[in-house]
Amino acid sequence: MSLISGKQPIAEGKTKRVYLHDEPDKVILYFKNDITALDGLKHDVIHGKGYINAYITKYLFEKLEKAGVPTQLVEYVYPNIIIAKKIQMLPIEVVCRNIAAGHLVKKLPFFKNGQPLNPPVIEFFYKSDELHDPMVNEYHLQALRITSEKETLQMKDYTLKANRVLKDFFNKRGLIFVDFKIEFGRLSEDNLVIGDELNGDSMRLWASPDGRKAFDKDGYRSGDALDKVRETYIETFKVITGEEPLKEGLES
Ligand code: C5P
Repeated sequence: MSLISGKQPIAEGKTKRVYLHDEPDKVILYFKNDITALDGLKHDVIHGKGYINAYITKYLFEKLEKAGVPTQLVEYVYPNIIIAKKIQMLPIEVVCRNIAAGHLVKKLPFFKNGQPLNPPVIEFFYKSDELHDPMVNEYHLQALRITSEKETLQMKDYTLKANRVLKDFFNKRGLIFVDFKIEFGRLSEDNLVIGDELNGDSMRLWASPDGRKAFDKDGYRSGDALDKVRETYIETFKVITGEEPLKEGLES
């Protein structure tokens, strides 16, 4: 708490607040307990969610860093804060899919739910709640000067590398890594890193091939009771990190 007490956030999103750090090249990411879906139309609060998602983000970002995929992570501060490199976030979401599910199946019904995608499918979405995050391609990104040609290649390269690392990791834990969403930020020109967060909110992680048991946010999206959703967050913490969450962290 002391890290942010008395400070005003410089930005606030649906699930995080961003504060300036005393060192100008860093920011403080504060993970909230808020949970949202349907572009923010559905909204609840789950105690311990900020802790769970900050910790899983730290855990997975460390894994990516070790594999040579750069991230925004500097340091995790219990329970729900990440000190991060200050970067200029790009207004896009990058989705990578190993198995057809979610919007891919809804928008392009010739893909069947559960169908393997090989090679993986990468999609870009322009971030706008108002426009419901429309899909764009890499030519749009360059025409809009959102990314340079080099940055576009870098983004695709890091996304596929991150996918390989995470897929192997989850497969070893007996889980099916269906898809995930990451966001990138610019550290300097032509030098992107993965930013924001990476946890059960930003991926589909199936425990069974039909996706009926899953460690992700789809239960909340499809109307599960909040108690069940909270239980899934706790299970997701355990299954990803292999650790037990701290009791007081879950109450924070
Ligand atoms: O909804 P859709 O099928 O496009 O989602 C693909 C992946 O991206 C899912 O893992 C979902 O959790 C994630 N996603 C996200 N934030 C969004 C949209 C999708 O984390 N705004």
